[in-house]
Amino acid sequence: MLRARSWSRGTVGLITVLIASACSSGATTAPQSDAAGTPTKVEVVSWWTTGGEATGFNKIVDLFNSRNPQWQVYTNAIAGGAGSNAQAVLENRVRAGDPPDSFQVHMGHELLDTYVTPGLMDNLDDIYQANGWTTQFPRGVLQIVSANGHYYSVPADIHRANVLWFNRTLLSDNHLEPPATWQDFFTVADALKAVGVTPLAVGDSGIWANGMILETILIGALGAEGFEGLWTGATDWRSSKVTDALDTYRKVLTYVNPDHATLSWDLAADRLISGQAAMTIMGDWANGEFTNKRFTDYGWAAAPGNGGIYQALADSFGIPSKAQHKDAISKFLALLGSAQGQDLFNPYKGSIPANTTAGNPPADGQQYTDYQKAAMAEWKTDTIVPSMEHGAAAAPAWKAAIEQALGRFVAGGDVATLQASLVQACKDAGVCK
Ligand code: GAL
Repeated sequence: MLRARSWSRGTVGLITVLIASACSSGATTAPQSDAAGTPTKVEVVSWWTTGGEATGFNKIVDLFNSRNPQWQVYTNAIAGGAGSNAQAVLENRVRAGDPPDSFQVHMGHELLDTYVTPGLMDNLDDIYQANGWTTQFPRGVLQIVSANGHYYSVPADIHRANVLWFNRTLLSDNHLEPPATWQDFFTVADALKAVGVTPLAVGDSGIWANGMILETILIGALGAEGFEGLWTGATDWRSSKVTDALDTYRKVLTYVNPDHATLSWDLAADRLISGQAAMTIMGDWANGEFTNKRFTDYGWAAAPGNGGIYQALADSFGIPSKAQHKDAISKFLALLGSAQGQDLFNPYKGSIPANTTAGNPPADGQQYTDYQKAAMAEWKTDTIVPSMEHGAAAAPAWKAAIEQALGRFVAGGDVATLQASLVQACKDAGVCK
C-alpha cells in the first residue's frame, strides 16, 4: 500500500495558505472537426524531445488519435531539459490567454504557485470522480495536485531524482563498487581519474542538472527531515551542516567532465554509454534514455548518502481555463491518468506510474525495466522528499534565485558566498527570517 501522506509538509502547508479560489472556464468549446472531416488539432506542450520521453508520450497520443479520429492531439515540444525553455513560454502563453489545450507541469509549487493560485486553470474534479482517481492516486500525490479541495492536474508519472547511474563494466574492471557515501565517492573517483576515466558526467547547459547534485548532497548531509526543513524554514541554511555539504559539493565538482556547461543531461548520459565517464547523477528519465538507446551495461544506486530516501517529482497535465478544446483534452487526460495510459507511457519514460492500479504487464510491447520494478518497491518503503529543481519543493522564484547563485558558484565562486546567497534566497522567498 502506498503511504497516506504528503511528499512535503512544507509544500502542502504553503499550498493551503496560498491557494485562491477555484476557477472555472469562460472559454468556448471549438468544433470537433471541420466540414471536410479534417480532424481538429489539439495542442499539448511538453519538453520531451529525447528518445524515451518522446517515444512514451507519442504512444499515448497515437492511441488517443486512433480512437478519436475527429481530433488530432499533437505535441508541441520545446527542447530544454527540465522545462528550462518551455516553462517561461508556457507561463507567458497561459497568462496572455493564449494557452495550449494542455501542458506539462510539475506537481507542487510549479503547478500551484504559477497557475492555480492566479486562477488560470480549470478544476478537474469531474474527471477525477468519473475515473475513480480519488482512490487510485496516492494521497500525497492528490494533495499536491489540489488546492482548496479541488484537483488541478493529472499526474503522468512519478520520477526519482536522486539516483546514481554507473557503467557496470567500468566499475567492475577497475574493481570498484558504486559509492554509498560521498567519502566513498572520492575514493572511487580518484581511482577512475588515475585510469583516465571521467568519474562523474554532468551536462549542466541548464544549471538544473548541477543543482540536482547539490540537492543529493544536502539530502545526504541533513537526512530527509533536515532536507525538507530547508523548504519550510525549519532547517537553517546558515548551519555548519549546510557549510559542510557545500564544501563537499565544491569538491565533487572537481571530478566532472570539463565540458559540462556545453552538454545537456542526455549528452552527459551518453558519456556512460561510450565509456568515457563512469557515473552520473540524474533523475530516472536516464533509465528511459538508456533503454531507448539499447544500452544495458548500466547499474544504479541511490545517490551517495541517499539510501532509503526517494526524492520525488512528477509530471502532470492540466487544462488551462482558456483552452480551446476542452472536450477533447478532458478525454485525453482521462487516458493519460488511466492504468492503461500509465502502463503505455512509463515503461519508455523510465519513471513509475502514479496511478496505483497501474504497474501491471503493460499494454504495449515494452516491459518495465528491472530499475523500474525496484523503484516501484522503494516508492512504497522509502521516505519521500520533494525535488527543488523539478518544481515540488520550492516556489519557482526561489528556485530561480538558487539557480542564479549556483551559476555564479560553478563559474568560479566560493562556498561562503554561495551559502550567503542561499540564506538570502530563503529570506526573499519569505520562508526564512
Ligand atoms: C524533468 C521532467 C522529466 C524529464 C526531465 C528532463 O523536469 O520532470 O520528465 O523531462 O526534466 O528533461
